[in-house]
Amino acid sequence: MKNILVTGGAGFIGSHTCVELLNDGYSVIVLDNLCNSKEGAIERIKTITGKELKFYKADLLDMKATEKVFAENEIDAVIHFAGLKAVGESVEKPLEYYENNIGGTFNLIKAMKKYNVKKIVFSSSATVYGVNNQVPYTEDMPTSATNPYGYTKVMIEQILHDMTVSDPQWSVVALRYFNPIGAHESGLIGENPNGIPNNLVPYIAQVALGKLAALRVFGDDYDTPDGTGVRDYIHVTDLAKGHLAALGYSEKNTGFQPINLGTGKGSSVLEVLHAYEKACGKTLPYNITPRRAGDIASSYAQTDLAKNLLNWEAKLDIEKMCQDSWNFTIKNPEGM
Ligand code: NAD
Ligand code: WQD
Repeated sequence: MKNILVTGGAGFIGSHTCVELLNDGYSVIVLDNLCNSKEGAIERIKTITGKELKFYKADLLDMKATEKVFAENEIDAVIHFAGLKAVGESVEKPLEYYENNIGGTFNLIKAMKKYNVKKIVFSSSATVYGVNNQVPYTEDMPTSATNPYGYTKVMIEQILHDMTVSDPQWSVVALRYFNPIGAHESGLIGENPNGIPNNLVPYIAQVALGKLAALRVFGDDYDTPDGTGVRDYIHVTDLAKGHLAALGYSEKNTGFQPINLGTGKGSSVLEVLHAYEKACGKTLPYNITPRRAGDIASSYAQTDLAKNLLNWEAKLDIEKMCQDSWNFTIKNPEGM
């Protein structure tokens, strides 16, 4: 297996995965419409790896443009990152989210069918565990969602599952990411949110830069060791490597397989803040505010399946995640 189509390859997780793929000897073809990324990321992937990749600025909603990528390349497998990902925005713009994430996946699957490509690794999310399961989350738990973004992940998993039923040669690995943070250690690629960040670590990074006054800690009355929310943060480089392991798995296995990618260890908001203070060498101001609507107390993965099926486990700790986030942030204070 040599030629990998990476949809959304200019984005945060996609760009880090392209680096790992190229370093491992794969040929990479990126399809991205740059709606949440910049072409500069592609150049930076080349700088980090010293290797070339093919880039198509194309929208998955454009069937012709999507098919063209398949027609011009002998694609062996797809890693499908392309999608919109902001939970709050998905509540405001549900149609946009359903159309882009589900419509884009439809076109991708249709093109895969036409060109006889039957292996796909899909970016799912721990969000599919919903609010009714108990931690640690295991892959056999029922899935559900509380917002349109989450529903797109639940539905796409179902659609891909149904593909494997209709054609037993299909191989689908749905990787359920926990909370990806950090950046490539070169500081050349990382997370680049537009406007005021919604997620914890990008927000803390802006506080450390002095662009935002203080972190708002959303609640300190949860049933957790220090009362603040607990999440399973995973370094984006570890996550990227998990995709290579999943490709290897899909070479030898067919059917639908969901797999958690997390560390199995939860960190609280205050623990992350303190790790970031250590990384940047500053004391970072914070205020306790009411809980954020829709948040749960704790989310972390049971990681045995990834170890057993993929022979993969996360290696980098929260200190390294914060160091690499800070290194990227100071090298790119205005973003990439
Ligand atoms: P990102 O926004 O940085 O990357 C997504 C990329 O997809 C962007 O470059 C964007 O331009 C592209 N894209 C979006 N719609 C497209 C379309 N119709 N056609 C072509 N390109 C399109 O996001 P990310 O953090 O790298 O996330 C990648 C995937 O992982 C997403 O599917 C996301 O839902 C999923 N995920 C992310 C997280 C997280 O916290 N970052 C957690 C769980 C799952
Ligand atoms: C983490 C913790 C907050 C910001 C989201 C999506 C999820 C997935 C990953 C894609 C929580 C607290 C945050 C702040 C805070 N994405 N927090 N102050 O909510 O676990 O997951 O991103 O699939 O679907 O929902 O991540 O980084 O927003 O929050 O106190 O300014 O930090 O309450 O406990 P979350 P997050």
